[in-house]
Amino acid sequence: MSEYDALIAAASKVRENAHAKFSNFKVGAALRSPSGKVFTGCNIENATYGLTLCAERVAIFKAISEGERRFDSIVVVTDTDALTPPCGACRQIIWEFCGDIPVVLANLKGKVEVLGMSQLFPKPFDSSNL
Ligand code: THU
Repeated sequence: MSEYDALIAAASKVRENAHAKFSNFKVGAALRSPSGKVFTGCNIENATYGLTLCAERVAIFKAISEGERRFDSIVVVTDTDALTPPCGACRQIIWEFCGDIPVVLANLKGKVEVLGMSQLFPKPFDSSNL
């Protein structure tokens, strides 16, 4: 049992909705606010490839659009032995909207690794640079 079990379960479930017909690489993400609300997202691919949205950004944009502004953890679930870290674009978005939160990487076999955002994204560009 870990404090992230429910979030991992939510990300595993939403992963099944992934629209990943080009890569066949399905990703689920789940984001939690301090009040305990959970927002989920899956990757949504596009025939032009470049318009693809990653699961993490879908979850964050859903939450922002619902009015949530504070987050305390995010989970990323894939079905691979090597856990999947967020891509560069998602690191920028996670940093800007969530700050230095724990990023929980998990797979369907129960492997879990927790990294801090500042480990994943050590020298960010953000509003403090403007
Ligand atoms: N993808 C995610 O959704 N999140 C990640 O952390 C890594 C990559 C998606 C984008 C694309 O649909 C597929 O995985 C292969 O890159």
